[in-house]
Amino acid sequence: MSATASAPGKIILFGEHAVVYGRPAIAVPVLQVASRVTVEEAESGVHVVSSRGSRTLLPGDLNGDDPIAAVLRHTLSAIQYPGFPNITITIDSTIPVAGGLGSGAAVSTAVARAMALHLGRTLDAATVSALVYEVEKIHHGTPSGIDNTVIAFGRPVYFMRGRPIEMLIVPRPFTLVVADTGIASLTKIAVGDVRRSWEAGRERFEALFDRCGDVARRARALIEGGRPEMLGPLMNENHAALREMGVSCAELDTLVGAAITGGALGAKLSGGGRGGNMIALVKSGTEAAMAEALLRAGAKRTIVTEVGGSFQV
Ligand code: PMV
Repeated sequence: MSATASAPGKIILFGEHAVVYGRPAIAVPVLQVASRVTVEEAESGVHVVSSRGSRTLLPGDLNGDDPIAAVLRHTLSAIQYPGFPNITITIDSTIPVAGGLGSGAAVSTAVARAMALHLGRTLDAATVSALVYEVEKIHHGTPSGIDNTVIAFGRPVYFMRGRPIEMLIVPRPFTLVVADTGIASLTKIAVGDVRRSWEAGRERFEALFDRCGDVARRARALIEGGRPEMLGPLMNENHAALREMGVSCAELDTLVGAAITGGALGAKLSGGGRGGNMIALVKSGTEAAMAEALLRAGAKRTIVTEVGGSFQV
């Protein structure tokens, strides 16, 4: 007998980095990419199989820093499973790693769900989100919690640290082109650099975070008011603030510039920055031309996604 579960990728539309400092942010699932995990009975121990190879976890590994071991530990505790299961966990993910698309949180989410299912239990989204947050601390250091929330719930969210989750209502879907610089970037490093800069110049950084928070609030009103085509200037403003924080890079700026030149309504980096992905808001029907323009400008791959759907678990 085996159990399978999936989780989507995600992008941050507005408010990355500032969200770590209590400002609101907006994140949405990217349904075109996903992590898919199958859990089945094994003879003994926990075997993890993925495109990166395979390994075996022993009961003694449960308290270590291995992210899958951490998911295992928190899931077993959430379902109050008394022993150590004998299972094979097979991970298959189409979400690029270290690109700001939430690959770590999606793998953790799918592993937790598939494992619980295999052991005869189901976990609600809030429980999955809370346990994935614990695992995210290993990858990220001081995660805001936005990645685990949007991925576990599989729906657009308006997120503020420490506040109850608010789902974002999207009455009129809109189209984004996501473009990858191809530069792998660890969120933990960008977040750490922002912290050091904030410590060195609190007033300036608090003002930048306020700007991003304000943008996220205005963006929410436009999205929920059914006027997503007006989000462009807010994306440009958010990108400018992120540049001032020092988390953009030449390649991201080039792609953002190419998107604007190519007719995007707005564009910005998305996620931790310093590489990874950028997003461009486009008029429906122009997405293929925009994807081509971004590839010509150096993007390594593009994903066209429509914001407004939700992920079916
Ligand atoms: O995982 P990424 O690269 O999309 O970045 C997460 C967003 C940050 O605000 C930079 C960090 C966080 O924990 O919210």
